[in-house]
Amino acid sequence: MQRLTIQTRPIEGQKPGTSGLRKQTRVFMGPHFLENFVQSIWNALGGVDGKTLVLGGDGRFFNDRAAQVILRMAEASGVAKVIVGQGAILSTPAASHLIRLRGTDGGIIMSASHNPGGIDEDFGVKFNGPNGGPAPEDLTDRIFAETGKVARYHILEAQDFDLSTLGCRRFGAMEVEVVDPVADYADLMETLFDFDAIRALLKGGFRIAFDAMHAVTGPYATEIFERRLGAAPGSVRNGVPKPDFGGGHPDPNPTWAKHLVDEVMGPDAPDFAAASDGDGDRNMVLGRGVYVTPSDSLAVLAANAHLVKAYRGGLAGVARSMPTSRAVDRVAARLGIDCYETPTGWKFFGNLLDAGRITLCGEESAGTGSDHVREKDGVWAVLMWLAILAERKMPVADLLRAHWAEFGRNYYSRHDYEAVETARAEAVMARLRTALADLPGQDFAGLTVAGADEFTYHDPVDGSVSGGQGLRVEFEGGARFVLRLSGTGTVGATLRVYYETVEEDPARHALDPAQALAPVIAASQQIAGIADLTGRAAPDVVT
Ligand code: G1P
Ligand code: ZN
Repeated sequence: MQRLTIQTRPIEGQKPGTSGLRKQTRVFMGPHFLENFVQSIWNALGGVDGKTLVLGGDGRFFNDRAAQVILRMAEASGVAKVIVGQGAILSTPAASHLIRLRGTDGGIIMSASHNPGGIDEDFGVKFNGPNGGPAPEDLTDRIFAETGKVARYHILEAQDFDLSTLGCRRFGAMEVEVVDPVADYADLMETLFDFDAIRALLKGGFRIAFDAMHAVTGPYATEIFERRLGAAPGSVRNGVPKPDFGGGHPDPNPTWAKHLVDEVMGPDAPDFAAASDGDGDRNMVLGRGVYVTPSDSLAVLAANAHLVKAYRGGLAGVARSMPTSRAVDRVAARLGIDCYETPTGWKFFGNLLDAGRITLCGEESAGTGSDHVREKDGVWAVLMWLAILAERKMPVADLLRAHWAEFGRNYYSRHDYEAVETARAEAVMARLRTALADLPGQDFAGLTVAGADEFTYHDPVDGSVSGGQGLRVEFEGGARFVLRLSGTGTVGATLRVYYETVEEDPARHALDPAQALAPVIAASQQIAGIADLTGRAAPDVVT
């Protein structure tokens, strides 16, 4: 085995987005592309000599090949040790935990999250820091700068390393430890939740269905829900991970997991159903006859967290991404704790979690988490719900209704316009940006604009400033809409429009969300001209 230095050319414009670099798989497979990006990470870190890293991914197509390349490049740059999940598998929350548990210098997660997998689909690579969380913006900016100037990379010339056998072995001068991807994570869950209480709930005939969508959570869910908690065999569906996720779109929302929604609305509905995404950090929660929006889920978890073992002492504070509904704000106000509003992307929660200012946080995009790791966590969210239901002893639908009666209901929906020509999507943003200052006081579709701005985040912990984080228009009475461009799309631009309205009157808590939101949707079309400028009569995905 010898170390080689390969001359290469910079890769232009490879800016890590909301979470890492996501591209079509064939782009990552192209000559030197993955190598250039990994070398750019090493360079941005100021080298990786002597460091210990975690490595794993969601098992999608190219995951195993990419892991071998990354191991060879780690060795050639002097990494002391890499801890890898067996078969190069680690869910994103499990990777975050392993980084923290072993006190490593960070880790590389191979995933394009909820994007489909396959040679004609997507792949992704992200770096998480020593706190277990996604690289902060200054680091992703440095990685981006390095991609524009990388001129050579270092790689070990070697055969594949055996990632199927557990244990520590040498790979060149580097140590590689292959670990069970599930065990440490499952043990962590046992420290956070009262497994006996959940076991008793399940034993009492409470039926659950967890759809792993042929993605990474299958082995985690089978171990935790079926083996350790005694859920009926078959409670975990699609539990065998596949490189193409069985041809599906592993995004747990009512569009891509419609079968699960249909099931809970049908005659033989389980008491509780949930799904997770490609890399296991997202979650969707359902009860018999009811879908829980991620924004409501965060609010319900915050209001009931004191019933859960790890959170009995109460919450230090909570945070949500700016476009997430303000349902959790109402809970925080009642609890007398701080509620922070951050830009979209889990990395912005990192400082607040590290500083102990928040315990729970979440995003409207099916992400919920706590200070137990530094990523959102799908299986954890399911356990939170089960732990709370074990205490509250009522159906999900009743719990939700009781929550709304107490705090008011924030109706919420997100409209996505996908693969829009970049220039057109930018034109929508540019036009609204220019109009913002003149909007207050004007009426649209029966609503009066109360305020309008572009969100800039001032991190209260390190003082960093992140501008351009979304355009928001707020109406009198509490309705609002938010416009932003996705940072994770791989084709053209994805325009996201987030809608919210508040209803205090319990008599109006059973409306169809589309009906409740109709005025603010109409107002947004008038104000932002989305249909005209994009040429799209309707959004591609509504969640
Ligand atoms: C999307 C979600 C965002 C989430 C991210 C990674 O990013 O909107 O909340 O953190 O995926 O899962 P976006 O494509 O909107 O930039
Ligand atoms: Zn994900």
